[in-house]
Amino acid sequence: MTVRIILIGPPGAGKGTQAMSIREKHPIVHISTGDILRENVRAGTALGQTAKKFMEAGQLVADSLIIAMMRARLSEEDAGRGFILDGFPRNVSQADELDLLLDEMSLRLDAVVLLEISDDVVVQRLTSRRVCASCGAIYNVLSHPTKAEGVCDSCSGRVIQRADDHESVIRNRLSVYHKETAPLVEYYEKKNLLHRINADGEPDSVLKFLESLEASGK
Ligand code: AP5
Repeated sequence: MTVRIILIGPPGAGKGTQAMSIREKHPIVHISTGDILRENVRAGTALGQTAKKFMEAGQLVADSLIIAMMRARLSEEDAGRGFILDGFPRNVSQADELDLLLDEMSLRLDAVVLLEISDDVVVQRLTSRRVCASCGAIYNVLSHPTKAEGVCDSCSGRVIQRADDHESVIRNRLSVYHKETAPLVEYYEKKNLLHRINADGEPDSVLKFLESLEASGK
């Protein structure tokens, strides 16, 4: 399967979870701007030091930094074989930059998948989310707990709560989403690329959608 898709949806809609279920069956590169930024924060790079305070407050990191980061990432060899973008673009100016970049690379998007979910479900999911600090596996103390408390089932790494998964920051992230990212729905609807999926269903609903897209020859 060679596809180029974007996952859009509020924080906690399940973008990372859906991407993981796709990767279990298909070798598609999952590019999450949040994961790349957190890696930079951990490594203490200049980008990480600048991004940290915005991430902890639930604000967007400056477009210029994100675009430079994504230009570099999408130019890597593995991305030429298809990708799932998670967390990028996050506003209309990032979407315009992505269009330019894909034109330069003579690539086209297959679909933009919107994961729809209510704010109340988001707050419940994110206050109970835990992630592995080593491999990034995603858990939930209510719906998908680890077998041993605080220990990753996949790699035995330490399972933690993200610094931005506290209710006041989650509410801020939601308000940034509604103001900055939601306009992308109309942006991609006009390009006939948007597909809506109920994010309150199965964690492999995007995988099923992609397989149906492939079966229909796109
Ligand atoms: P980022 O890491 O992208 O965070 P986000 O968009 O807020 O999304 P999340 O990772 O929180 O949620 P998700 O949708 O992946 O949900 P998950 O699968 O984990 O960004 C973090 C920060 O980085 C931003 O605030 C910003 O500062 C910065 N940033 C990133 N990109 C940027 C950009 N382009 N421009 C500027 N700044 C940027 O699932 C959540 C929980 O729900 C889990 O516990 C999971 O187990 C559970 N769950 C998932 N699916 C289901 C289901 N179907 N049923 C039941 N439970 C489910």
